[in-house]
Amino acid sequence: CGIVAYVGPKDAAPILLEGLQRLEYRGYDSAGLAVVNAKSLKTRKVKGRVADLAAAVPAKFKGTIGIGHTRWATHGAPSDVNAHPHLDQEQRIAVVHNGIIENADELRRRLEGEGVKFESETDSEVLSQLIGRMVKETESLREAVLRALKSVVGTYGIAVIDEQRPGEIVVARNGSPIVLGLGEKEMFAASDVAALIRYTRQVVHLEDGELAVIKADGFNTFTSDARETAKEPFTVDWDAGHYDNGGYEHYLLKEISEQPDTVARTLRGRIDDRFHIAHLGGLNMDAREIRSFRRVKIIGCGSAYYSGQMGAQLIEELARIPADAEPASEFRYRSPVVEPDTLYVAISQSGETYDTLVAVQELKRKGGRVLGIVNTVGSAIARETDGGIYLHAGPEVSVASTKAFISTAVAFALLALHLGRVRDLSPADGRRICEGLRRLPEQIKEILTLEDRIKELAKKYADAPGMMFVGRVRGYPVAREGAQKLKEISYVHAEAYPASELKHGPLALISPELPTVAIVPDDELLDKNLTTLGEIRARHGRILMVGHRTSEAADDCIVVPKNEVELDPILLTIPLQLFAYHAAVALDRDVDRPRNLAKSVTVE
Ligand code: G6P
Repeated sequence: CGIVAYVGPKDAAPILLEGLQRLEYRGYDSAGLAVVNAKSLKTRKVKGRVADLAAAVPAKFKGTIGIGHTRWATHGAPSDVNAHPHLDQEQRIAVVHNGIIENADELRRRLEGEGVKFESETDSEVLSQLIGRMVKETESLREAVLRALKSVVGTYGIAVIDEQRPGEIVVARNGSPIVLGLGEKEMFAASDVAALIRYTRQVVHLEDGELAVIKADGFNTFTSDARETAKEPFTVDWDAGHYDNGGYEHYLLKEISEQPDTVARTLRGRIDDRFHIAHLGGLNMDAREIRSFRRVKIIGCGSAYYSGQMGAQLIEELARIPADAEPASEFRYRSPVVEPDTLYVAISQSGETYDTLVAVQELKRKGGRVLGIVNTVGSAIARETDGGIYLHAGPEVSVASTKAFISTAVAFALLALHLGRVRDLSPADGRRICEGLRRLPEQIKEILTLEDRIKELAKKYADAPGMMFVGRVRGYPVAREGAQKLKEISYVHAEAYPASELKHGPLALISPELPTVAIVPDDELLDKNLTTLGEIRARHGRILMVGHRTSEAADDCIVVPKNEVELDPILLTIPLQLFAYHAAVALDRDVDRPRNLAKSVTVE
């Protein structure tokens, strides 16, 4: 979900609406805003998109302080009533909330016992009602929020306004991001810098357990036990232009198309052609420490997890260190054994995914050494980890990850090269990988020229009720990410399987109605893969092969340029992004905002 808040000399509503538009990729079930003018609080909320909200806001919606929200439903279905902001029963306090209040039922019962009438089914309304009670006792919004949060168990990022105090906004963070934006005699707050970037690049990130009071002429931050904290503003190196769709019909296509540049940015300054090593200063680790690791464990969610699988493969092959990936969402719940000689790597485009963040915190608590591979500079996961690699891929707006996935895989190739060259990877192999990495941007460009052909194929296969994606060893993470992309944005059921496992079960599903996308690189497993294609053909399954050559075993083939075997999975993923994109367009889906999903899930 997205939060935006403004206090300053200008009219708040247009600024809030613009901010919400930028945040819409974080949730889009419903949207709302509240402003205060002449000590009177006004709100508008609608089920649907930010554009629907903008249409519902009357011209006379004046006020120079306000808060806005775009929602991804957790408690209560998407509806006008359940949309934020939520008010107290006196309609004096307005609150927008990201996160989940775990003891909401208990607090609600208590408040109802005291005669409070609730409007909505949401856990968030408990906050506005609680703060509304407290503000009468304390007559200080800051104090009221501090007191209310004392009885709250759960996660939150909140922004609160009080119609009796139209000069200040109180924000608080606990497990759900809040960033302050510092303007000229105006202040902003949001759940994501995307909402602020048009107005300021000077930001301050709140930590968990931290609150702030923001006013037009400044801010102060403090902890939940009311101790003041000192914060250094930080300049964001992205600007508003990075959030434009660049003339493309969808952000997704823009982000796929910019991968030659984003990969070049991930690589920039990091390849050493003299020693055939990678420069990764952000790791904060010397050679002795690198040699002490006996395992690598990678965690992340969704596509980040699949890129981690690709990374594990790269690390095992190039550095010969046992490595594996696991969903962070699972890892955090199973009380993992944390070993001192394991290097942990957390992956997150946003740097804010709650499951991944909590897994990192759990690892740190147990003394684990954790690196982050993160796109968003200064994000929570980047701050929590001991060091890491920034992707420098620029903001990723479309909900389905593309350029961040590819840049993460490239970052893993650099990490694997680095670990390998400190251990047993030969200078010759180091050189081979360095040269391969340098070829990637041009080769991605070549793959992008296949778009028209891939579009035709996507149309041809898009009416299938489901698709199977198969790949062996290096090809398996490619298949998993390909299936993920297809299901996320086209809603076509897609299942990924190791090609070797097909005959142990899912072959039973193969029929003309269930086509297979087969990842078939030219590597030592080529013959085995072609045999699998034969098995599918024998069951009358249609096959779209993605590889380095055409084959009569397949109905259709997409041929991509060849790199080093270890790096080929990166390139083989690109046509699958285009395939999913064009399948979704052919099926008339909302490509950038697929149903039920959000770009960054900052709740459990
Ligand atoms: C959500 C998104 C996915 C994304 C995942 C991890 O589930 O819908 O597209 O892969 O979060 O996001 P992160 O920002 O941690 O990489």
